[in-house]
Amino acid sequence: MRSEPLDNLVTIVLAAGKGTRMNSSVPKVLHNLRGRPLIHHVLASANSLGSSRVIVVAGYGAHQVRAALPAGPGVQAPEVVLQEPQLGTGHAVAQCLASLAPVQGTVLVLSGDVPLLKVETLRSLAAVRKDAGASVSVLTGHFDDPTGYGRMVRGDHGEVLGIVEQRDLSPGQEKITEVNLGVYAFDAGFLKREIPRLDNDNAQGEYYLTDLIGAAVRSGSGAVTLVTDEPGEARGINTLKELTVMEKQMNRNHVARLLDSGVRIVDPESTWIDETVEIEPDAEIRPSTFLHGDTRIGARSVIGPGAVITDTVIGADVEVRPFCVITGSRIGDGAAIGPFAHMRAGSVIGRSARIGNYVETKKVVIGDGSKVSHLTYVGDADLGRDVNIGAGCVTCNYDGFAKHKTTIEDGVFVGSGVMMVAPVRLGRGSLVAAGSTITRDVPPDALALGRAQQSVKEGWAEERRRKLSGAEKEKKS
Ligand code: UD1
Ligand code: CA
Repeated sequence: MRSEPLDNLVTIVLAAGKGTRMNSSVPKVLHNLRGRPLIHHVLASANSLGSSRVIVVAGYGAHQVRAALPAGPGVQAPEVVLQEPQLGTGHAVAQCLASLAPVQGTVLVLSGDVPLLKVETLRSLAAVRKDAGASVSVLTGHFDDPTGYGRMVRGDHGEVLGIVEQRDLSPGQEKITEVNLGVYAFDAGFLKREIPRLDNDNAQGEYYLTDLIGAAVRSGSGAVTLVTDEPGEARGINTLKELTVMEKQMNRNHVARLLDSGVRIVDPESTWIDETVEIEPDAEIRPSTFLHGDTRIGARSVIGPGAVITDTVIGADVEVRPFCVITGSRIGDGAAIGPFAHMRAGSVIGRSARIGNYVETKKVVIGDGSKVSHLTYVGDADLGRDVNIGAGCVTCNYDGFAKHKTTIEDGVFVGSGVMMVAPVRLGRGSLVAAGSTITRDVPPDALALGRAQQSVKEGWAEERRRKLSGAEKEKKS
């Protein structure tokens, strides 16, 4: 297969069908595969191919489909054309005719439910058509069980004659194993001329895009094929079961690649790692760990078991102990997290710092060597180096209307059970006594003690025991 730059390429993505066999109210192309809707995978291929325009045909759940299309700064959002009602793949492309009016060159037609097509394959498909001077090229493959697919009908010399859909097969044609994989490159002029001529005179009463292959043959301009020896990449998703199988396989492949690159993955079958995650050699990923999105893990770090980590950068020699949930955070070299820690977005943890069990962090910078070891919440806070926060402390950051900041400077020691009512600042080297509620700034090197006076009543408890057990005896007698 070859790769050439493609100029003047417009890509149509068919995505109007409901996906009846999914038995789901969610439009088929919006079901997630590896964390992204199916159609995002297809659009990513269309973009890396260098399509000058991408047109999505939406119908069932068009509202939802439109809302789920990639958008944002620097992202080229596809155009959307509506197909209502859905009268077949040919009818779907017919809805694009107005948009295609100025188009010359190649029109590529893809399905929104075929997510794994390689860009190289699409390039070759377009090149095959151009080189042959044909009106259309079709991607085909051989399946042991071709049931359900349109079959390629060829003449005595192997030349393409047309495509026959499963339900329109004549008896002899059932044995044909070469199937239409539903991916086409058309000459734009041919497509625009022939689409309006399609009829729906077939078993399903639909306008078949596949009838254009026969039309190309009859017009003399011809149809050619690209026969892939990897038809798996053109596998479509029709059921939730197929989606699950495909997802599992993709994960397996990715984990295998990571293993080959020197990452120790203890139990590949229970470990889910997105393609976007980068892991350095000699890191160790323990069972039932989920690594998502823009996550990076440094050398010799040990993660899990049972970690769920999303969009987080983890340095080298970090220990993420069992059952931590970490999102949108950065963890410095040599830090130790968990077990059972919850680090929410914007947690930035310094080198060799320690976040212990049942600690929750959010939007916090914690300096090198600092320790927040047990049962504590720190949010909207700035902690310096070598700070020590005792068990059960809370930065009280929210007053019901706004969030306020807590600043804890280098070397501060906060005893257990301290409530820090923000906004508040604990000066460098200060000490906060256990059980304090801190509402005012503490100067550097000071002691802050903010708890109620303790009173002691000698013998009181013993007296109470005597009284109550006396009353109990009277009741029973
Ligand atoms: C189609 C092909 C078949 C091929 C198979 C490969 C036709 C007539 N048949 O069959 O030869 O082997 O793909 O997977 O094209 N869609 C619309 N509007 C519609 C109907 C469908 O947008 O009115 C979209 C669907 O959402 C889907 C794609 O077109 O993304 C394919 O439609 P589908 O119904 O799955 O076609 P198949 O029966 O699989
Ligand atoms: Ca299909």
